[in-house]
Amino acid sequence: MRFLLLLVGVCAAGQSWPDYGGGPDAAQYSPLTQINRSNVAKLQRAWTYPTGDSNKYFFNPLMVDGTLYVMAKGNSIVALDAATGKEKWAFSPGSDIKVITNRGLNYWESKDRKERRLLYCANHRLRALDVLTGKAVPGFDVNLKEGLDRDPATISLVQSTTPGRVFEDLLILGSATNQGYGSAPGDIRAFDVRTGKLVWQFHTVPRPGEFGYDTWPKDAWKTVGGANVWGEMSLDVKRGILYAPTASAKYNFYGADRAGSNLFSDSLLALDARTGKRIWHFQMVHHDIWDYDDATAPKLITVQHEGKTIDAVAQVTKQGFIWVFNRVTGEPLWPIEERPVPKTDMPNEKTWPTQPFPTKPPPFARQKFTVDDLSPYLSPEDRAKFRDDILSARNEGLFTPPGTRNTIQMPGNNGGANWSGAAVEPGRGMLYVVSKDLPAMLKLEPEGTAKSGFNDSVEQRGQSLYQVHCLNCHKADRRGAPPAMPGLDDIAVRMPREKIVNAIRQGVGPMPGYPKLKDTEVDELIAYLYNPARARATVPAGSSWADAEKYLSGFGFMIASDGLSPIKPPWSSLTAYDLNEGTIRWKIPLGDVPHLAAKGIKNTGSHYPKVGPVVTAGGILFAGTRDRVVRALDVDSGATLWETEVDAALEGMPAIYSVNGKQYVVFCAAAQVGLTPGTQVKIPGAYVAFALP
Ligand code: HEC
Repeated sequence: MRFLLLLVGVCAAGQSWPDYGGGPDAAQYSPLTQINRSNVAKLQRAWTYPTGDSNKYFFNPLMVDGTLYVMAKGNSIVALDAATGKEKWAFSPGSDIKVITNRGLNYWESKDRKERRLLYCANHRLRALDVLTGKAVPGFDVNLKEGLDRDPATISLVQSTTPGRVFEDLLILGSATNQGYGSAPGDIRAFDVRTGKLVWQFHTVPRPGEFGYDTWPKDAWKTVGGANVWGEMSLDVKRGILYAPTASAKYNFYGADRAGSNLFSDSLLALDARTGKRIWHFQMVHHDIWDYDDATAPKLITVQHEGKTIDAVAQVTKQGFIWVFNRVTGEPLWPIEERPVPKTDMPNEKTWPTQPFPTKPPPFARQKFTVDDLSPYLSPEDRAKFRDDILSARNEGLFTPPGTRNTIQMPGNNGGANWSGAAVEPGRGMLYVVSKDLPAMLKLEPEGTAKSGFNDSVEQRGQSLYQVHCLNCHKADRRGAPPAMPGLDDIAVRMPREKIVNAIRQGVGPMPGYPKLKDTEVDELIAYLYNPARARATVPAGSSWADAEKYLSGFGFMIASDGLSPIKPPWSSLTAYDLNEGTIRWKIPLGDVPHLAAKGIKNTGSHYPKVGPVVTAGGILFAGTRDRVVRALDVDSGATLWETEVDAALEGMPAIYSVNGKQYVVFCAAAQVGLTPGTQVKIPGAYVAFALP
């Protein structure tokens, strides 16, 4: 308990940044006021720490005791002097890292502070690092593929790249499951930080006898998966409650093997952090077939509601909604209505007849896409194509079920709010959310009929390149001829994009390298390889459903030939909510698209970012965007008070802390996306710290 008070004490003082998102409550808030409205325009670069490679990082640094922990140098964990950026030590987690928690880390210390650890996951194993020595904790090694009541060999993906949450002597972890049929279940697990021993496990796909079991077919728990927490979680440390937002059940776009509402997919779960027992839950999407994962940390916030002070929790989602509950009872602050939604025409599929709609606050994203919403910046050819696409598609608004004809989805499955996308001022009842308006066009095809019909021109170009360069060896169905010729049909779930880029650029073993392909062509190839419509569907043998027709769809992001979205700007926005009243205070486009801005077309919002804002008690919201700009905005109006360009594009959120009486704001500028939409770059990234002179 003493340790807890200590940690809370440290957080309250706001000197440190001891956990992902700033603290266990994931507020993305700093109570520091040294940098404020009156002086923010004077901010200067205090130091720069190059990542030392051209890997993609969107890492939220931690700061404890004057040391900043970042990820750099080939996925190493690096300790820096938080005031100067000088390197203290670097720890390499191994040379063959396929997947690592690269959005952040978890820090734990014992009550007497004699033991201090950083906890991370790499290659589906949970590991620990001794902070005092910078060395691995010997023997601390948990295989995360085990203990899920599935054959670990059938699980290609289980580890998320988002860190978990430390509570007392526990590390609570979510997971990333495969996207396809037969994915692993999304159990939430708590491990002892000293021993790695499993302490509790919550089945997000309930087992016989557990609450919610009857929302699935009888034996579905043995074969279906997902309902996982790949995004962020938050903790009410004082009450010992964990808030965990879950993703959709898998497969994402067709649910004939999972008739029912599918608890606890797409739910906000309030669990006892010590035992994993459910306290309350709310499901935002019943029987999800739209990939509407909840991924943003639930935001703990205190509001004045109808004359009462209420400790609330607010969840922002991909559909563009914001849901606000009393965080102890789970009661919504404003009525939520179950409204009828369109029915599916797919064989064996049963859409849920209604979906929940919050009556307040208003949504932060556009929820329809018609020909009237087409962007004025489309070329005439693109305009004609998208017009035809929209007019011929099924398009009945939010929750239009995907079918074998084109189906418009708005917000698309990569729109709305996403990880790191919201910050709160916990005491003022204010919430700030970054969202993107990106439509998708879904289209289900029977699995195995691999044919064209991509609804995404990038994937289509990728397929053509594949046919020219790769098909001879890896085969038309992408299944290769194992073991000598690896299949690439499941590459999306077993190989991060940087590794694929390396394989293509440099070659592997007998495979030649393709150094002459353009960056855009490599991107197109990967878009094609990552399309789950071409991915292997793995329904375990013996499943009663294994013989039924299975359908697959691509994610279908709608992208014009210049890489931009076909919908009218803004493509990304920052919306400020007053959750005392349930109203929008202000809303602005966030960022620009450089090549449009150069022509005088500004305020379009940056295209395709995953931006994490952080607010301070100095009245400032800090955010960096993919146009390589970091900004300080006035929290009361959204007005830009200061902005400057950094070395590379940004994703994720900054860390804000104070050392020796000086406040710093550190951004990770290493997102490796180009200024032109749809492009990747290979430029060294950097951590960039700002402070007052
Ligand atoms: C001449 C045959 C050949 C061609 C052409 C070829 N590959 Fe390969 N590829 C291989 C072989 C063989 C391996 C396995 C190498 C090893 O592990 O030693 C491989 C491995 C890979 C891997 C790593 C897979 C894994 O499981 O480790 C990727 C990704 C890949 N290839 C992508 C491509 C792409 C994309 C193209 C086209 C641009 C392509 N390959 C063209 C033969 C080929």
